[in-house]
Amino acid sequence: MSKTIIVSNRLPLQLSIEDGKVSSEPSVGGLATGLKSVHRDSNGLWIGWTGLTVEETPQELESDIEDAVQNQQCAAVELTQSDMDGFYYGFSNRTIWPLYHYFMEYAEFDSENWEIYKSVNQKFADVVLENLEEGDNVWVHDYQLMLLPQLIKEKRPDVSIGFFLHIPFPSYEVFRTLPWRDQILKGLLGADLLGFHTYDYERHFLSSVSRILGHEVSFNEITYKDRHIKVDSFPMGIDYEKFHAFAKANYEQTDKTQSELQRRLDLHATATPDAKMILSIDRLDYTKGIANRLRAFEHFLEKYPDYTEKVRLVMLAVPSRSNVPQYQVLKKEIDELVGRINGKFSTVSWTPVWYFYRSMPFNNLIDLYTSCDVALITPIRDGMNLVAKEYIATRIDRTGVLILSEMAGASKEMNEALLINPNDINLIADTIKEALEMPEEEQKKRNKYMQKRLERYNVEKWAGDFMTKLDSVKSTQSVAK
Ligand code: UDP
Ligand code: G6P
Repeated sequence: MSKTIIVSNRLPLQLSIEDGKVSSEPSVGGLATGLKSVHRDSNGLWIGWTGLTVEETPQELESDIEDAVQNQQCAAVELTQSDMDGFYYGFSNRTIWPLYHYFMEYAEFDSENWEIYKSVNQKFADVVLENLEEGDNVWVHDYQLMLLPQLIKEKRPDVSIGFFLHIPFPSYEVFRTLPWRDQILKGLLGADLLGFHTYDYERHFLSSVSRILGHEVSFNEITYKDRHIKVDSFPMGIDYEKFHAFAKANYEQTDKTQSELQRRLDLHATATPDAKMILSIDRLDYTKGIANRLRAFEHFLEKYPDYTEKVRLVMLAVPSRSNVPQYQVLKKEIDELVGRINGKFSTVSWTPVWYFYRSMPFNNLIDLYTSCDVALITPIRDGMNLVAKEYIATRIDRTGVLILSEMAGASKEMNEALLINPNDINLIADTIKEALEMPEEEQKKRNKYMQKRLERYNVEKWAGDFMTKLDSVKSTQSVAK
């Protein structure tokens, strides 16, 4: 039976060695959480990195590692520490990530890292080719693997290859500053179908192909080496049913076994019973606008002193890419801002910002989503932002207000949210007030529309649409031959 091979840098599981044993944690980030549901329901194979480098892998645990990976229908690409430095911390996260998110001043153009990026993409290609069987499709994901489609296509022109980019594709004016722009575009054009979260990213890509490579682009089709390649937008959804069902169970459960979070929530309710809670969840990343969010909350407390002891910001920042200098600088900045705000405004019975620097298990995430009255999501740039969608999906009684940045891909489908410009601190402060004071009827009306949309266009539909389109592209190509 033919299968779909998913390929991404990170597997849905992250392995580590603890007390001489292999331990496995679910991966964090939109790509992994979203695709996990798709993979769970298929007979496919997922190829990627386990989280352990070759140097960190004890020989005696190799077979345990293989078992852990195979149990989840996955296959591992082995990467060394120097691969990780040049490919992951280097080219992927010091060049492409900042450039594609319009942080041009952070982008480093280092040719050694580029060479390692190429060689690691080849390592991924080798594992894909080893596992490919007649009739299989390959679906490659994200900016770490932009050369992979071409590397596979060269060896196996018969195979259908899809590529999906989970981050923005920047405008031509930004993209063209990349010294390796031609090679990246050619790498991507190994795919038969290229998908983006929004129409804008799709348009930017098409314009780069036509202006940099000079290929014929007509509407959303590119003619390249006698192949017709389709480009389209597929806004990624969430596993709506899963989030909604867990939240519902949480909502209906009366004798909850108390989590640490729940205990804190109760404590907080006793100390300041009227206080509303504002939620902030992201990986600790400069694209997420966390510092501006804190500044806006501080400005809100200054501008509207009546809210003293009446509101609290619950902020979960998940550690991410901490070997990259900008992430270390940001961590320090956030720590200081939280300290400053709490130092300035706290009272004996009230701390305005609760700050968690860690990841949380799924149950606690649901606790957070369901207990907060407002979600404050203010990225400077974000390909999609699934947290915004997850928050809305868990609002069982349809109360809750989402404040969302216009710069997140999700804003294109969530018009009923309070949309803000993440650089406008004063506007965010005023919007926090508007959210806290929004009548329940109004909240419910807005969330009803968004929930319906999220339920209909869930992650399964997203993946299904992509694969159907890939099949149709392939059959059109065969007819053309
Ligand atoms: N998430 C998680 N554990 C946490 C916090 C967040 O698994 O402790 C998940 C969250 O549920 C969401 C994803 O991480 O599915 C974040 O995806 P998003 O698209 O918002 O941002 P990304 O991290 O991909 O930039
Ligand atoms: C974003 C990217 C993913 C990445 C995730 C987590 O969602 O689009 O490709 O996996 O962030 O980042 P990390 O660097 O930890 O894999």
